[in-house]
Amino acid sequence: MESPEIFERGNWGSKIAFIFAASGSAIGLGSIWRFPIMVGLNGGAIFVLCYILSVFFIGFTVMLAELTIGRHTQKNLVGALKAIKPNTPWKGVGFMGIITGICILSYYSVVAGWSAGYLYKTIKGAFRGEVTWQASDAIFKTFAADALAVLIFLFVIIAITTFVISKGVKSGIERWSKILMPVLFILIIILSIRAITLPGSETGLSFYLKPDFSGFNLNVLFFAVGQAFFSLSLGMGTMTVYGSYITKKENLVSSAGWVCFSTTLVALLAGIIIFPTLFHSLQLTPEQFKQDFEVGTGIMFQAFPIIISKMPGGYIFGIMFFSLLLIAALTSTISMLEVPTSYLVDEKQWSRKKAAVLIGAGSFVLGIPSALSNGGVPFLTKLNIMVVMDLIFGNILLALGGVLISVFLAFSWKVKNSLKEISIGSKKFRLRSLWTFNIKYLAPVVVSLILVFIVMKNIL
Ligand code: PFF
Repeated sequence: MESPEIFERGNWGSKIAFIFAASGSAIGLGSIWRFPIMVGLNGGAIFVLCYILSVFFIGFTVMLAELTIGRHTQKNLVGALKAIKPNTPWKGVGFMGIITGICILSYYSVVAGWSAGYLYKTIKGAFRGEVTWQASDAIFKTFAADALAVLIFLFVIIAITTFVISKGVKSGIERWSKILMPVLFILIIILSIRAITLPGSETGLSFYLKPDFSGFNLNVLFFAVGQAFFSLSLGMGTMTVYGSYITKKENLVSSAGWVCFSTTLVALLAGIIIFPTLFHSLQLTPEQFKQDFEVGTGIMFQAFPIIISKMPGGYIFGIMFFSLLLIAALTSTISMLEVPTSYLVDEKQWSRKKAAVLIGAGSFVLGIPSALSNGGVPFLTKLNIMVVMDLIFGNILLALGGVLISVFLAFSWKVKNSLKEISIGSKKFRLRSLWTFNIKYLAPVVVSLILVFIVMKNIL
């Protein structure tokens, strides 16, 4: 008979299975829904540039740190911090990650629910025929304000997530990610080709890809760093848990590299679909866009029906796109729920099922205000709850978590110990000195300075 420990703590079947699962966590609404919002709000190409630099210098650095801590200890973040530095306050960073994860799960599932709603609309034929910006905008606003519908979809998303997590690692996460991620990728490439061949797409592409350096400021950098953490699932212990399921044979450096690369590629392609489509439909110049266009939480849901309506076979493409978006969102919600669940299973000896159901129910309740803050209930809409939740948990706390994890690895556990763990499975680590510099100085100092600046600017 298997020992209970082996039974509870599965391992990824192979390196490629791990990469698919970790990319499954990373690639999701963060790249396809959140990234375009951030680009739209932060001056276009200049944000894209800052995002790419953040992924390379900070995201990759913290990702490798989390994977290393996870594989070394074979534990969730709280357990890992306790194992490496027992009886110190470091475990608090793990608890912060658990709270952050539950809060992100709550509003992220609302948007995942919108994707399910859009799948349903597409199947019903809502986007057949020419869809204009005005029509698409009205469809989104009416849908997001339909309180009952969004709550039902929110419930369904959290129920599916809870079900998969209660089944455990191998049978759940791995099986889904392996099959569906590559299909999503191909579909996104096809849609981006259609977008850049639309008349007027050049203006959209220039807004998206030609940086206007005069638009640079610390806010842009703050949101770019936040987006790097969010899209790569960093700063709350997700990649630590995923790392804890990697075997000693695997190469952590190349695994981290692949996850960063594939996630960034999907985000960049999502922008290539959305901005040319918007500019084509709205006939705006980049200047007019920056001044007059109000970028809201629905930008992706407003743009996609337009492009779908312009494709031969758009009905089928639409169904495929929203199905895959929904699955990409689910592989991410699954990874968020895994963080608190693995803590309760590993540290508190709860059963997986009990832990998943309890946290899932809590996230649903917590998600209700966000679900109703997009037109559903006027005063929640005025408070902009979903945007505020995303700012606090999706930007500030993930970045803070990333700083603390870096400081922990570099100065408490010590870089030389982590390098020993990294070298198991990756004999040649070419970026060794760059990574050492980044984890000790660049990631903690730069991200802390940005955070302090932003908090002071908004409080004082
Ligand atoms: N990276 C996911 C996405 O971009 O959709 C969101 C996410 C998942 C953030 C897991 C944080 C996390 F721990």
